[in-house]
Amino acid sequence: MGRTIRIFDTTLRDGEQSPGCSMNLNEKIEVARELETLKVDIIEAGFAIASPGDAAAISAIADIIKDSTICSLARCVEKDIDAAWNAIRNANSARIHVFLATSPVHMQYKLKMTPEEVLESVAHNVAYARKYCPDVEFSAEDSTRSDLDFLCRVFETAIKAGATTLNIPDTVGYMIPQEYAARIKYLREHTQGIEDVILSCHMHNDLGMAVANTLAGVEAGISQVECTINGIGERAGNASMEECVMALRTRKDYFDLDCHVDTTQIYRASRMIQTITGVPVSPTKPIVGANAFAHESGIHQHGVMSKKETYEIMTPESVGIPKNAIVLGKHSGRHAFEDRLHELGYSLSPEKLDTAFKKFKVLADKKKTVKDRDLEAIIGVVPVSGAERYSLVNFVINSGNAITSTAVIKVKKGDETFERVAASDGPINASFRAINKIVGKEIELEDYSLKSMTDGEDAQAEAIVKIQVDQSGEQITGRGVSTDIVEASIKAYINGINKYFME
Ligand code: KIV
Ligand code: ZN
Repeated sequence: MGRTIRIFDTTLRDGEQSPGCSMNLNEKIEVARELETLKVDIIEAGFAIASPGDAAAISAIADIIKDSTICSLARCVEKDIDAAWNAIRNANSARIHVFLATSPVHMQYKLKMTPEEVLESVAHNVAYARKYCPDVEFSAEDSTRSDLDFLCRVFETAIKAGATTLNIPDTVGYMIPQEYAARIKYLREHTQGIEDVILSCHMHNDLGMAVANTLAGVEAGISQVECTINGIGERAGNASMEECVMALRTRKDYFDLDCHVDTTQIYRASRMIQTITGVPVSPTKPIVGANAFAHESGIHQHGVMSKKETYEIMTPESVGIPKNAIVLGKHSGRHAFEDRLHELGYSLSPEKLDTAFKKFKVLADKKKTVKDRDLEAIIGVVPVSGAERYSLVNFVINSGNAITSTAVIKVKKGDETFERVAASDGPINASFRAINKIVGKEIELEDYSLKSMTDGEDAQAEAIVKIQVDQSGEQITGRGVSTDIVEASIKAYINGINKYFME
């Protein structure tokens, strides 16, 4: 049996800090639960010093998650390390991840530190983190543009101070695979004590080589891979978890390496991140894109029908893509509904199951058949926790290309109902304005998208809005699904507002 590669997931830290990907507390907990089900070894749950919200989310995750190590990021600064430790101290297994830049450009212009000062800071802060926690990772930020001999000194210093994992990140996505492998080889040959620690890689995708560089690193002796679901992350993103894991799994003949990830959860995790962040993956995205297992040309279809392996190097089932079975209709009961959800890999709390079943019944009244994708759409809009503050009762739209659109919106908040009317240049805008009047907040719509979730005339539309409330500086994602595009949009807007109040 080959080496086992540790999977370090940073969706909740590097992924979450990228534009348009922010998540609230409940969403982060939901993602952490899914990562634990996926069996990732380490969950980087956030950057505790960044905000009280980040710290609270990391603590909550540390309390709940039992099987994965919970990690918080910290700069080489004592107060960062204190905050990181406070956030993760209750975890079953905790890790502090400290980082400091080591490239000439970062040291001179960002840190304004000399190389000697960087070495001192690494020695001091890694040792400081070790006083709290036996598991300390040190990252040399921008390591791939750092002088290799200096990097050896930095890593020797970190090892002497007690680091147990050394991360060699490609912070700016600059590497070519063979070059990265050669750097790892050099570091392994010239850093004293390196054989006693775990080596990690963390690759960004600026030149589209994050996954290739990760795999080159692994071949050169890296045994921890840092990655994110769907490859979300700063700028062009990070190495994608599903691509790294499926490359190792599908090409086990070549790598002879193992990892603990339950690949049948991959599709579900990917859908969850798309739903929560409102950031869709491209149809051609490997492993989880809509076309990843679709065969369009006649020759391919014929081949796959004769023998799947002609054009499929892995099966959709191996990554948890459900078979597109038509299973439910308006006469289906709660049991059938729950059973199908189980088959698709979802197990909901009784409270969420109730909400989802009510939504299913409403949909089944409108659609003849409810497909798996419809069920996933329903699950995706079940609020992750808490009651909805506002809910849509009904709406009336008057619109056309020769008149100003008007919207009358009625919503419920507890036992009260509110109704307002507004006019604008289109039905969606008019609806949003009417809701703004009800909520009494200044709400800025920063982004809006609409797409079809399923096929056919009675397809469900999914609307995603990104809003900012009262200039809070925080972008909130709202999502709504309906067979009516205006209703989907209104629901998405209300969903975003509910999330604002939930926080
Ligand atoms: O890209 C990077 O260098 C990082 C470090 C904090 C590991 O995200
Ligand atoms: Zn990064």
